[in-house]
Amino acid sequence: MPILNVSALQAARLAAMALALTACGGSDNDTQDNHLLLEQGQQIFRYDTFGDEAKWSDTLRMHEVIETAVDPTTALAVGLKVDAEALPPAVVEGIRNGTVDLRSPATTVALLKLDAVVGLKGRIETVNGVDRLTRLGVTCALCHSTVDNSFAPGIGKRLDGWANRDLNPGAIIALSPALDAATKAVFNSWGKGRYDPRFNIDGFSKPVVIPPAYGLAGIHRITFTGDGEDVAYWNRYVGVTQMGGQGSFSDPRLPLNITNGTQDLISSKLAALQAYQLSLQAPPAPAGSFDVAAAGRGKLVFDGAGRCVTCHAGPAFTDANSLLHPPADSMAEPEAPSYAARSATGQYRTSPLRGVWQHAPYFHDGSAATLSDVANRYNTRLGLGLSAQDVADLAEYLKSL
Ligand code: HEC
Ligand code: HEC
Repeated sequence: MPILNVSALQAARLAAMALALTACGGSDNDTQDNHLLLEQGQQIFRYDTFGDEAKWSDTLRMHEVIETAVDPTTALAVGLKVDAEALPPAVVEGIRNGTVDLRSPATTVALLKLDAVVGLKGRIETVNGVDRLTRLGVTCALCHSTVDNSFAPGIGKRLDGWANRDLNPGAIIALSPALDAATKAVFNSWGKGRYDPRFNIDGFSKPVVIPPAYGLAGIHRITFTGDGEDVAYWNRYVGVTQMGGQGSFSDPRLPLNITNGTQDLISSKLAALQAYQLSLQAPPAPAGSFDVAAAGRGKLVFDGAGRCVTCHAGPAFTDANSLLHPPADSMAEPEAPSYAARSATGQYRTSPLRGVWQHAPYFHDGSAATLSDVANRYNTRLGLGLSAQDVADLAEYLKSL
């Protein structure tokens, strides 16, 4: 009976990468080691579940819903993405000419078998000649990758590190047959591009926007509230407490001490996972996407009358490495409960602004729809006295970063 062996697939990928590295003949061993580390990190980011099937299958039974009720059209509608590069030519052709049925959950199972659904990892077993989805887990790519839509909306090449702001994690979790109506209602209230990574810890439901995982090199305060000094801190938090991976997380500041399972499938992967994320650069603003002259004037406002540079300083446009800010410094506050109050630091990190054009809406709660809204809110709240022209120029500058 043919069983798709997922870890064998992954091993094959790693072996292929090792070969490719030897082939490219780097003379410097350090560079080669670093390449290998990044390649491993990419594999982990895209395909590793850390054993979180215990949560998504054993507890939430998501594999059952997906196999019976989630056809590709539905999957795309809740923001799941399909990796076009994982599709063999026959499937590509079938999607083009309509012979692949996007209204059948069996097609979703087939896509999972190809490892083509970004952020979802299925185990497929053939039972009586039929492919069955017997286990399902999630990976980091679920929330922090999207695709470039080059094949069709929701289907294209992977863009790792780009927040999936189309994804509706709450609506997906609410499909679970294991949850009661009240809990489902909470998850359904979050909306797309938002997730509350503390709801299952403190019981408050106040989601934040999914942030990008790019542009973080050199920044030593991670998350909106600067909880960790490196990306790995938060990867462990999310891997254990949210994804449900096998391993431990503890932080006396929260306080929180959680162990899932009896083995640690996370710790050994954090170095490569972090290296990969730090290699992801914020995407530059596309040519023609902003008015160059206005952006030039906007920079003067940013550095001058707008006083933005006092906090958004340095190459990453953040003072995060020197200080965090009281909640009142966030233009999304006051809110009750304050998201900061639920965190380890009780404060906010000045958000880095490289690539900010790419990930509307803005502020941790997504309460500013556009960069114009951001500029307007600062002007009003801080009484900066900027003219309408200044505000427009400032927004144009933000679009260019
Ligand atoms: C269900 C969606 C989801 C999954 C899965 C997920 N994250 Fe996140 N991630 C979030 C949200 C929401 C935040 C914002 C939390 C905050 O700042 O308080 C976040 C924050 C982050 C940050 C901080 C970004 C910054 O600007 O400091 C990084 C880095 C990150 N995640 C990487 C990962 C990695 C790596 C994984 C896999 C181990 C992962 N995430 C899994 C939703 C997710
Ligand atoms: C006192 C420090 C401070 C000043 C001054 C400041 N900011 Fe911020 N900025 C922050 C903090 C803190 C956040 C995160 C707030 C949140 O998400 O709730 C932020 C968030 C932002 C964001 C949202 C980024 C994202 O990823 O969602 C933008 C855009 C921004 N600021 C632009 C500006 C502009 C433009 C100015 C000047 C008019 C400015 N900031 C002045 C501290 C500051």
